Amino acid sequence: MWLGFTLWLLLCYFQYIKCNILEDYEEISRNMLYPPEDPIADALPVEVGKDQISGCTCRSTKNRKVIVCFGNYECKRFPKIHKQSEVLVVRTTVLPEIRVGELDSLYYLKTLKIEANHQLKHLQSGSFRNLTKLEKLSISYNTKLHIFRESTFDGLKSLRNLIMVNNGFTNILHITPALQPSKLPSLRKLDLSENSLEKIPENAFQAMQGSSLKILEIDLCQLDFIHPNSFLPLKSLQELGIGENDLNSTIIGDFLLSLKRNNRNLTRLDLNSMGFRKQPPRRLMEIIANTTLERLTLSYNQFEIITDDTFPKMEHLKVLELQGVSVLSIGPNAFDPIKFPDLRILLLSGNNLPGIHWKNVSNQQLVILDLSSNKGTALNPMYYEIDRGAFLMSKELKVLNLAFNRIKSIFDYTFLGLEKLKMLILENGTIFYIGNGTFKPMKHLEILNLANNPLTANENLTRAQFEGLNELKLLILKNCGIKYFNDENNIFEMMPNLTHLILRNNELFYISTELLKPLKYLQVLDLSENLIVSWWTPLFLSSGLRPHSLYLTDNKISHFTLSMIQDINYLLENKGNFTVEIDLMDNVFICDCSSMFKSYKWLQVNGSKSLKNFFSRSNFLCSSPNVWEDKRVAVFLSSIKNLRCSMFETISNLTLIIWTIPSLVAVILLVSIVLLIYKYKIYITYWLFLAKLALGRKFINKSHKARGVQKICRKYDAFVSYCNEDREFVLEMVNQLEHSPPYLKLCVYERDFEVGSFISEAILGSINESRYVILIISNSFAKSQWCRWETQLAEYHRLFLEDGTSYDPLVLIRIGNLESKYLTTTLKFLLKTKIYLTWDDKRPDEFWNKLRNHIVKHK
Ligand SMILES: *[C@@H]1O[C@H](CO)[C@@H](O)[C@H](O)[C@H]1NC(C)=O
Ligand SMILES: *[C@@H]1O[C@H](CO)[C@@H](O)[C@H](O)[C@H]1NC(C)=O
Ligand SMILES: *[C@@H]1O[C@H](CO)[C@@H](O)[C@H](O)[C@H]1NC(C)=O
Ligand SMILES: *[C@@H]1O[C@H](CO)[C@@H](O)[C@H](O)[C@H]1NC(C)=O
Ligand SMILES: *[C@@H]1O[C@H](CO)[C@@H](O)[C@H](O)[C@H]1NC(C)=O
Ligand SMILES: *[C@@H]1O[C@H](CO)[C@@H](O)[C@H](O)[C@H]1NC(C)=O
Ligand SMILES: *[C@@H]1O[C@H](CO)[C@@H](O)[C@H](O)[C@H]1NC(C)=O
Ligand SMILES: *[C@@H]1O[C@H](CO)[C@@H](O)[C@H](O)[C@H]1NC(C)=O
Ligand SMILES: *[C@@H]1O[C@H](CO)[C@@H](O)[C@H](O)[C@H]1NC(C)=O
Ligand SMILES: *[C@@H]1O[C@H](CO)[C@@H](O)[C@H](O)[C@H]1NC(C)=O
Ligand SMILES: *[C@@H]1O[C@H](CO)[C@@H](O)[C@H](O)[C@H]1NC(C)=O
Repeated sequence: MWLGFTLWLLLCYFQYIKCNILEDYEEISRNMLYPPEDPIADALPVEVGKDQISGCTCRSTKNRKVIVCFGNYECKRFPKIHKQSEVLVVRTTVLPEIRVGELDSLYYLKTLKIEANHQLKHLQSGSFRNLTKLEKLSISYNTKLHIFRESTFDGLKSLRNLIMVNNGFTNILHITPALQPSKLPSLRKLDLSENSLEKIPENAFQAMQGSSLKILEIDLCQLDFIHPNSFLPLKSLQELGIGENDLNSTIIGDFLLSLKRNNRNLTRLDLNSMGFRKQPPRRLMEIIANTTLERLTLSYNQFEIITDDTFPKMEHLKVLELQGVSVLSIGPNAFDPIKFPDLRILLLSGNNLPGIHWKNVSNQQLVILDLSSNKGTALNPMYYEIDRGAFLMSKELKVLNLAFNRIKSIFDYTFLGLEKLKMLILENGTIFYIGNGTFKPMKHLEILNLANNPLTANENLTRAQFEGLNELKLLILKNCGIKYFNDENNIFEMMPNLTHLILRNNELFYISTELLKPLKYLQVLDLSENLIVSWWTPLFLSSGLRPHSLYLTDNKISHFTLSMIQDINYLLENKGNFTVEIDLMDNVFICDCSSMFKSYKWLQVNGSKSLKNFFSRSNFLCSSPNVWEDKRVAVFLSSIKNLRCSMFETISNLTLIIWTIPSLVAVILLVSIVLLIYKYKIYITYWLFLAKLALGRKFINKSHKARGVQKICRKYDAFVSYCNEDREFVLEMVNQLEHSPPYLKLCVYERDFEVGSFISEAILGSINESRYVILIISNSFAKSQWCRWETQLAEYHRLFLEDGTSYDPLVLIRIGNLESKYLTTTLKFLLKTKIYLTWDDKRPDEFWNKLRNHIVKHK
């Protein structure tokens, strides 16, 4: 599984072959992040035909390179194939045997797979005699296959790769005689994994003496014994996989020593899932250190703590795989260049490391460091943290994988020192903070993957965050919750060399020309799974960008605007040497005259040949109106009758006029409403207040009830509502009530309002906090707008508290004669229904006593 990945890396970085980092990125991400895809398991859209004689059904992939034949119960003989292909797969049949001659006509095949044929017991000698071009042969998952005759594989002179996984083999001596170098002179790789071989005796590979075999896999074979000398006949053997067996370290060490003694130079050893616990077996590690091994896999064993002394000095080791070994901590110098001078690749994914908490990563010789998936489980999460300047010494690092960790934030000091880094993978973290200048230390970064992080949860993306990415080629911002990009603060100005921009699965509804303008070299733009409706000014035509792949799948595009069609035309006409791919599938095109006719006319008059081709071959569908639902947009376009939509155009002009009149009426209405609102704004504010108060009241009432009959404690005894003109009177009142027993506390506008609190809010609050509301009613009070307000509020307050008791919080004091023209209905009503105190400047003491008594009564 790691083979493809490492081969590429070795090629790329050690032999200095120029490589296309973008293509290789796909490879690396396939191997490093996702399980490999199996194209044959995908849909096989093309029917090749049913073979009447054998009863098998055959289908092929679109490009017809792969043909797959199957047929559980009917396919009893090897199928006859009439079409040539590179790959043939015969699977899940009930074929009992393969006979000589049946394969002769397949001489052109490069790859043949005979898999999961559970009745297959027997392959006749010479069956493959005419397959001289075959390079790869898989005979796997055929559980009844136990043995090969010596001459089964005669004729396969080009065969390099033979895979015989999970068959019914129980003895290796039933296989190897058929693999003699005289019969398979080109054999490089042999995979015998998942057969219950149990033992590899001394003479296991005797028959293969002199074979050119380089790679041997015998994983998961229930092996408990390997004779130390058993591999000696395989003189060219370089890579050996014996993982997932029950072999102890003595047995492994013994055959390694034997190989060494005989000058066999193994370069790779896979010891995954061998059940090593606590520590890699020391003696075995020392033996390995003394061999030519360059690549060692110890994954899926269990070493919780790796100290500085866990490994001996291993001079030749270039690649060390320690994935999924449950490691919790690693000594700061465990992989120091003094011990591992040649180590270039260190893979530590799938462990339980809480981050990098050493002063710095001391393994400065590394080129590739994989620290992904150290996130624990849902129950036992690991929070990944990277110390300030952790990578200061990592001057050679080119690839850093920190994906699938619970990293929360990255700062300008996180990646300091990574001067040569080309690829930074931060996928599926929980990154919601990117500090200014975070990527600046990585001057040569070409690939940045930030997919599946909640980047925009708290902040918009800014230029300052992406500063210094001058050489960036690929930016992946898939599923980052992006709603918009700021044209003024355009992050793409920071990455002028970008060629691939992936914005899939965000919430973008619009893309502007300004935004894309800096991306002069853009080749691939992926905007799939967003909320884009359409665009109304040309994006590419006006910015001069010419991406050759534009993905707009699964958006909300409903209108085929003129700008869209002009852009598509532009891209198709200026493709250079590329084949242009524009994907508009799964949108919601409205197929009617108003949304298509203009574009249609443009297509007819100004559309290039390639644009017309594009449409006639396109498959995107209309989603409305009903008549056109699920029919191709291309069909709609070709059936627009000029006449019909021209008529539509005239009609729409007419309707425009018809519609104008009602709209005018509507505008006039609107204007009058606005004027009315303006005139009565004070009342509207007031009603809003009442509503607010009512809500507040309701709440208070509820809690009131909850507390039963308990009295509410109030901050003030009374709130005094008065007008500036009556100020003197109020001062006197304060003097009277507050400074002689029973010492009442009054809330007076000027004195008690908190500075800065919005005046009406404050009044509202004070009224709520006062047991009584005293209204000083005079002519000036009645005249003043503001006081009218307060009256209404107080009245409202009173109404809400009316609960059948004699307690009435409203106290009215009348000063002088009131002119009725100033009185509002509320005031009139109050004066009519309430008993009020009248200020009598001849008998002031009597007045104050009365007032005091009234208030004290309900204290
Ligand atoms: C065997 O292969 C040769 C080409 O190598 C081809 O010409 C010939 O037809 C094949 N034999 C049969 C029986 O198909
Ligand atoms: C390994 O297995 C062999 C044979 O099964 C046994 O003789 C030997 O003692 C074992 N070594 C260790 C270290 O367990
Ligand atoms: C293994 O390497 C040694 C020393 O580098 C060399 O002498 C020997 O020929 C090599 N063996 C093989 C089989 O290539
Ligand atoms: C390493 O191999 C050499 C011979 O090639 C031997 O002399 C030496 O003792 C070995 N060292 C260890 C630690 O096994
Ligand atoms: C990195 O750490 C090592 C030891 O842990 C120390 O010797 C070295 O000075 C450190 N380098 C920097 C740049 O901090
Ligand atoms: C990565 O994140 C995406 C979106 O949150 C999620 O669908 C996906 O399963 C995650 N991948 C892994 C391997 O956790
Ligand atoms: C990041 O940079 C922007 C623009 O230069 C600045 O406004 C902002 O305050 C900076 N943020 C921090 C945390 O330094
Ligand atoms: C992001 O930008 C938009 C539009 O410029 C703005 O409305 C929004 O408040 C910003 N969000 C944050 C978190 O700054
Ligand atoms: C990247 O773009 C800059 C201009 O901003 C240019 O000077 C530089 O040569 C480009 N680098 C590469 C590797 O294309
Ligand atoms: C197209 O390809 C030709 C040769 O294959 C090459 O000479 C030319 O420069 C290429 N044009 C572009 C725009 O890449
Ligand atoms: C065709 O292009 C010309 C020039 O760009 C433009 O004036 C004309 O309106 C276009 N025709 C249609 C039908 O849009």
